[in-house]
Amino acid sequence: MNLPLDLSTPNPASPRFIDQYGDASRLPSQSAQEELAAGLRAPQASIAPKYFYNALGSRLFEAITALDEYYPTRTEAGIFDKASADIAKAIAASGITHPCLIDLGAGNCAKSARLIPHLQPTQYVPVDISVDFLRGAAEQIQTTFPMLDIVGIGMDFSKGLTLPPAVQKQDRVFFYPGSSLGNFPPIEALAFLQQVSDADKGNARGLLLGIDLVKDKSVLEAAYDDALGVTAAFNKNVLLHVNTLMGSAFDVHQWRHVALFNEAESRIEMHLQAECNLTVRWPGGERRFLAGERIHTENSYKFTVDSMTDLLRKAGFSQVRCWTDADEWFAVFWAAV
Ligand code: AVI
Repeated sequence: MNLPLDLSTPNPASPRFIDQYGDASRLPSQSAQEELAAGLRAPQASIAPKYFYNALGSRLFEAITALDEYYPTRTEAGIFDKASADIAKAIAASGITHPCLIDLGAGNCAKSARLIPHLQPTQYVPVDISVDFLRGAAEQIQTTFPMLDIVGIGMDFSKGLTLPPAVQKQDRVFFYPGSSLGNFPPIEALAFLQQVSDADKGNARGLLLGIDLVKDKSVLEAAYDDALGVTAAFNKNVLLHVNTLMGSAFDVHQWRHVALFNEAESRIEMHLQAECNLTVRWPGGERRFLAGERIHTENSYKFTVDSMTDLLRKAGFSQVRCWTDADEWFAVFWAAV
């Protein structure tokens, strides 16, 4: 049983915030421009999904999570509502009573807000690529838990998990909900998990992971092509973000949102499909697209409980526990190092 920490006493403290990009976050970086140009020039054009998350993209994603069709967020929340006390016990059974909770891709921090009363962390570290969005979210969650030590970090953790010294080294528990791991190609997902389980690199004691499971194709495809067109707007907004980053001249009217379940690869794919023959130009380059040609913008891999358990073990985690909803649409894993 955890001894309660008083996280709710009013205190005017505000969260510390570390922007790993420094001032450069306001400027389009050369490496982003090079990465984007290479993706657009490739025979199968692509844009990495991390470019969805400018300020508008983060808001659109937040709206997606409220859609009827997008079951992952509410299904995962249902698992946490039912099983948080049990999950906290499993974490305590791994010898961790008051963790440093590191929330990867924290977004609006809503998922951690539910978990914090159960886990009673000594420090909460929300990490996100969308710096300004995270700053607001960290301030908001500080008002809910005024006594909690919060260190917000703006960084692209897909490039490495080295955290600044302000992050407590003891009892680090990584929290990676929302099936975001599914947005990595399998080899990178394994490498990422290995990085988390490598105590020397991440100082982690364990990982709390939310994963979307394989299910009926019609349910999956509707989740990524909703009737209101919010996911279509989220997908097309990547072109506006790319215009800002590399000075390109994408016209969103010329592109159609496509979402399909690729059963052989066990993944939802999102694409943007050219509605007509067109040429996109940017400083130093251009790409001609024929009508019907696609830019691949996202993969969202879907797992089974067994395939994810195997992956976690392969990545070096020793104990693995899992909770699912009654329909087995989504799973939460606790994997101890
Ligand atoms: C963030 N990630 C887990 C979402 C997903 O389901 O793959 C991103 C998303 N793309 C379209 N809708 C939601």
